[in-house]
Amino acid sequence: MSNSWTPDSWRKKTALQMPEYPNLEHLNDVEKEIASFPPLVFVGEAQRLKSSLARVANGEGFLLQGGDCAESFAEFSPNNIRDTFRVLLQMAVVLTFGGGLPVVKVGRLAGQFAKPRSSDVEKQGEIVLPSYRGDIVNSIDFDEIGRRPDPERLLKAYNQSASTLNLLRAFAQGGFANLEEIHRWTLGFVSNSPQGERYEELAGRLDEALRFMKACGLTAESIQQLRETDFYTSHEALLLGYEEAMTRQDTITDDGGWYSTSAHMIWIGDRTRQPDGAHVEYMQGINNPIGLKCGPSLDPEELIRLIDKLNADNEPGRLTLICRMGSENVQEKLGPLIRAVQREGKAVVWSCDPMHGNTITSSNGYKTRPFDRILSEVRGFFDIHNEEGTYAGGVHFEMTGQDVTECLGGAQAISEVSLADRYHTHCDPRLNASQALELAFLIADMLKENRGNRSTTKMAAAS
Ligand code: TRP
Ligand code: MN
Repeated sequence: MSNSWTPDSWRKKTALQMPEYPNLEHLNDVEKEIASFPPLVFVGEAQRLKSSLARVANGEGFLLQGGDCAESFAEFSPNNIRDTFRVLLQMAVVLTFGGGLPVVKVGRLAGQFAKPRSSDVEKQGEIVLPSYRGDIVNSIDFDEIGRRPDPERLLKAYNQSASTLNLLRAFAQGGFANLEEIHRWTLGFVSNSPQGERYEELAGRLDEALRFMKACGLTAESIQQLRETDFYTSHEALLLGYEEAMTRQDTITDDGGWYSTSAHMIWIGDRTRQPDGAHVEYMQGINNPIGLKCGPSLDPEELIRLIDKLNADNEPGRLTLICRMGSENVQEKLGPLIRAVQREGKAVVWSCDPMHGNTITSSNGYKTRPFDRILSEVRGFFDIHNEEGTYAGGVHFEMTGQDVTECLGGAQAISEVSLADRYHTHCDPRLNASQALELAFLIADMLKENRGNRSTTKMAAAS
């Protein structure tokens, strides 16, 4: 990090994707107010996540990151939060069981509000208005007032994040995530599906193991790890004014560094990762674990330049590369990035976002994602890491606990026609609970295969 870094040094650089607020004074007042609010997360938690991710970087864990494309004010409800959390728990169990590895659970939750857009404006007929940039900026309603960026929305987003996080903490530590509750996480509409049945079978085996352990004296009452889970939050760090207001210097540990306290982990989007841009400037100075979205236009040299800036000390767990290449591009685009990172000896977590490179428009006009392509990108991701001898360390999904019809296919065989049934997303199409669970099972199978490979390599090394 350069010595001149301060939480506001990004202001001297070019910041893409920023809303144009009509009243800057109002914006400044709100940002000052937010800077006086309590942090949403604590430094110790962010450090803990970083050490868990360091284990993932070493092949000793797996990262599961998922949640809404964009949280919204309208869909804010305890049931929505609970249902997304439930599906993440189910996926985590499936992956932990399949991979035989600890799963690091990170939600795209409690702060995932701001959206980068391909165009600054949206045109409907003759009317041109600013694009919708997420509820933290403006309204999805297409009218002049709605689309005007409003700083008051930052306060609302902060408050919604605080109560979402409060509920998540209660769920993770208050008994809901107890492994003995494993049967109760299945959502009604999933229970009769093939995924639901497969999950019940796994849960039955887990019960058996827990009963055995109980007989040995290891119970959920006595063992915190069985009773609770660590659940972390993350979002794209797009609105730098908000992030700056949430940036605090660590006074509790002896670290003394700066942290974003808006979430445990934040990431840089594929559209705002210019090495000399404002987003990279801000992110290099905070000490949280961070992500970098890597799309097909990223070339290997630029990636190395970014890693040098974002993780100058080559600290494992600090940087997760979230690759979103598209199913057709994985082989061609990911290989060169992996080889460059290996050649330079950089410690990173490799994670796969199979959502953002696989968005299409259906013949009846819906923005959607075919389940097959999502799966094929994940497969390609695992394959190429196997070929290169590197570790496929995680996945990043847009998903919801709701029974939506936004992505095509899966075992439920959602068709183009049925997209219309329950298409609720404010932004990108999400996997529903059943599709998310199906994907978790498929990934668990790949992890199992890898586990086979890992032990063979170890044995080969030993002999
Ligand atoms: N504490 C362990 C973990 O988080 C085990 C565990 C408890 C767990 N509840 C869970 C794992 C729910 C997955 C899902 O990994
Ligand atoms: Mn998205």
